[in-house]
Amino acid sequence: MKITVVGTGYVGLVTGTCLAETGNEVVCVDIDKNKVDRMKNGEVPIYEPHLDILFERNIKAGRLSFTTQLQEGLDHGDIIFLALPTPEDEDGSADLSYVLGVANDIGEKMKSYKVVVDKSTVPVGTAEKVQATIAAKTTVDFDVVSNPEFLREGFAVDDFLKPERIVVGSSSERATALMEKLYKPFVRSGNPIIIMDEKSAELTKYAANSFLATKITFMNEIANYCELVGADVDKVRRGMGTDSRIGKRFLFPGIGYGGSCFPKDVKALHKSGKESGYNFQILDAVIDVNNHQKVKLIPKIMSHFNGDLSGKTIAIWGLAFKPETDDIREAPSLYMIDALLAKGAKIKTFDPEAMDNVKAKYKDQIEFATNMYEATENADALVISTEWSIFRTPNFTKLRDNLKESIIFDGRNLYDVEDMEKEGFTYISIGRKEVS
Ligand code: UDX
Repeated sequence: MKITVVGTGYVGLVTGTCLAETGNEVVCVDIDKNKVDRMKNGEVPIYEPHLDILFERNIKAGRLSFTTQLQEGLDHGDIIFLALPTPEDEDGSADLSYVLGVANDIGEKMKSYKVVVDKSTVPVGTAEKVQATIAAKTTVDFDVVSNPEFLREGFAVDDFLKPERIVVGSSSERATALMEKLYKPFVRSGNPIIIMDEKSAELTKYAANSFLATKITFMNEIANYCELVGADVDKVRRGMGTDSRIGKRFLFPGIGYGGSCFPKDVKALHKSGKESGYNFQILDAVIDVNNHQKVKLIPKIMSHFNGDLSGKTIAIWGLAFKPETDDIREAPSLYMIDALLAKGAKIKTFDPEAMDNVKAKYKDQIEFATNMYEATENADALVISTEWSIFRTPNFTKLRDNLKESIIFDGRNLYDVEDMEKEGFTYISIGRKEVS
């Protein structure tokens, strides 16, 4: 099939590349000329495991190409995906100006029937607005479909190629049939394509992300309570997660959820609830608890150093909001860095992928190490902020030698408490016994 993807951010690029992989002819449109030129030369502008292989293969096969011209994209595709940013407005709602701006241009430029697909995470009622915006500019027939993505950074290619479900919000039989045809190769395993109305599809995305953020936050509160009463959250987690009604996943406590989706989507659902006269009390609590959770280790660090961090060097392992990405949006590490700098500490850090992004933000305010051990040399303490695999089995002897004092504040519960006790570390983690 002939597909056009407008917007080559994270979602657009993965969508376009994976749709080309199943034999579709895909044209990706972006207004950023520099980025388009780089992509034309085979450069993947984001870090996402496995994307580079598919990207190169499909460009070579002539199934994946790039342009800055929306007209070219519109002349090519029967299905036009909108994968545009919906940044958070100052008031927490989703800013639709990019989506509606392109909808307006599509209305002006389209010459034949198109299915316009909202792939961006958008508030309930957006498909209606896109429909009205295009209709105001054209008499050509078209349909608008809502097709939210459920891609996880770091696993996006796999999530796209083998989705657990595909949600399509469509009230047109013609558009639904095209969407089913497009997605059929991805659900051969028997996973469903769930067809519903546009509003329900739009809400499904927000509800799924807000539920997962709530699930994590609930465990973070259980962890905080464990610390008070002397229970072990790891054991509680296992005891709970084996109940299939609860499930094992997304029960890992830590220093809060971050990233480009959960924080933004929870706030946006809360805000759109308010606009419709509904107060999501549970989301209020989730936002509040998560804000505290991100800096949860700071008072513990402060108290260990008797309230004075001036002249102390804190090593931080992990900057990305989670492993397998260079994304630092809403990363707990940044909240910790800000708090530690404000308390007068020096920071030395290492992350396998995200250091360039953090460098751009903090310049020489913090020190960047070339490897994980270098970050700990002569540091007063180590803080773990992202659970990269490489941090899971460190050489503890080397760590003990490097650190001035053998102390680890672990925001991701990477090690067994008992092991750390044997290794002779002071070990402070989340929702578990502190050892020293
Ligand atoms: C999420 C959704 O999973 C995905 O379906 C949606 O399309 C986009 O948002 P992503 O933001 O890439 O994906 O990351 P995810 O793996 O879901 O993690 C989100 C945050 O939750 C991270 O900060 C992670 O550290 C945190 N998390 C996750 C926990 O703290 N505990 C857990 O048990 C799981």
